[in-house]
Amino acid sequence: MKTIIEPFRIKSVEPIYFTSKEERKIILEKAFYNPFRIHANDVLIDLLTDSGTSAMSSHQWAGIMQGDESYAGSSSFFRFEEAVKKITGMPLVIPTHQGRAAEKIIFSILGGKGKYFCSNTLFDTTRANIEFSGAEGIDLICKEGRQAGVPAPFKGNIDVAALIKVIKEKGAKNIPMVIITVTNNSGGGQPVSMQNIKAVRKVCTENKIPLFIDACRFAENAYFIKLREKGYAHTPVPEIVNELFSYADGCTMSAKKDAFANIGGFLAMRDLDLATQCRNLLIMTEGFTTYGGLAGRDLEAIAIGLYEVMDEHYLQYRIRSIEYLTNKAIAAGVPVIQPAGGHAVYIDAKAFLPHIPVDQYPGQALVCALYEQGGIRSVEIGSLMFGKYDARKKLIPAAMELVRLAIPRRVYTQSHIDYVAEVMIEVFNKRNELKGLTILEEAPTLRHFTAKLQPISMKGKTIKNFRKKSGLNTLK
Ligand code: F0G
Repeated sequence: MKTIIEPFRIKSVEPIYFTSKEERKIILEKAFYNPFRIHANDVLIDLLTDSGTSAMSSHQWAGIMQGDESYAGSSSFFRFEEAVKKITGMPLVIPTHQGRAAEKIIFSILGGKGKYFCSNTLFDTTRANIEFSGAEGIDLICKEGRQAGVPAPFKGNIDVAALIKVIKEKGAKNIPMVIITVTNNSGGGQPVSMQNIKAVRKVCTENKIPLFIDACRFAENAYFIKLREKGYAHTPVPEIVNELFSYADGCTMSAKKDAFANIGGFLAMRDLDLATQCRNLLIMTEGFTTYGGLAGRDLEAIAIGLYEVMDEHYLQYRIRSIEYLTNKAIAAGVPVIQPAGGHAVYIDAKAFLPHIPVDQYPGQALVCALYEQGGIRSVEIGSLMFGKYDARKKLIPAAMELVRLAIPRRVYTQSHIDYVAEVMIEVFNKRNELKGLTILEEAPTLRHFTAKLQPISMKGKTIKNFRKKSGLNTLK
């Protein structure tokens, strides 16, 4: 088989800025060892997220010029609505400025104290919006999904038996919704099978619980179904997508992922009463029902992107490019989630840095090392993101300590990815030198975005000594 090439040519480029390792050491310290605090110009390859970072197509940019900016009844909205209806089969479409705005609306309405939301794995903002309403989120990922190094085709599946158990324990009336995240972002970008979605649908129907899809990466998930699930090899992706949504009562979507848009999202559903409540809240917090916090031009870009993302040449390239980097990691012995996910490579930081205990955040230590070594920005998905404290302020760690290298869509070429692999392997070869971190300052929710950290003092050495030793006393 020939090389799978990028299915596009480049019409417009933007520069990336180079820094030295010495400069990056200082930048890291100034950013309190939290790459969310780093200026993007100080990043060489930005793998922080695949969200809102896609390169739009010339077709999308042309759509931008056609945006109808009318406050109400914009023709861009109707094009957007038609695309969402066609793809999801859901009649009621509500635009929002991004995914979490859709979450805020739906969970404000359905959440509250004493309610439980079950999922394969809730993304951090989804969980935060559920908890903010007073409700609880319950992750019920299948057994394979918890074993990073063991390959399985659908590691994003919900454990259906566990779901049935939770429904019995908590009572169906206290569970306003089951949410399936496709693909499972917090668990390695792993797909959910159609069979699993069907099985969850059945359980939801029997218990009269609505089923929603967190649809951020619906096309990547659909392509995995085509590749891996029996009976779908010859089904066109748009048909797989239609079937996937046909089992759901509604969905939340961040158009910053599988719609190639730089901003945007939506809620779509079948229940008019619920949609009316959502729209009332939307007007209060996001904007009128035909723009929901977006400009008309954004609605155009999303409408076009939703179709483009289902192109199978694109999806073949997309899935292959993640696999390419994953395979390079595996070949060098770097512990990663296997098989490759749909949008990112996930390094198992616990296995990478076994000498750093979880309460010293091995994932964040690795994130910092990748930046220092090669200017690569990644994100920790572990105990910094999901850790909680018990009554005695002792860390309750996350299930896994992962570092995600998320690949923006249509942005980086193969040589960028080769460079990333080289840096990752360099860090791996000197992993024993890496040190853990301690938190200096944190917010009560979603702390990973803003937390300030410091390298842990090793063998009784103080932070001050560490600074002296590293020659970093130049900072104010
Ligand atoms: N659900 C999932 C599965 C996500 O991955 C995200 C965002 C959201 C909901 C929220 O959407 O950002 O538009 O408000 N994930 C980004 C990431 C931020 O980096 O994975 P949003």
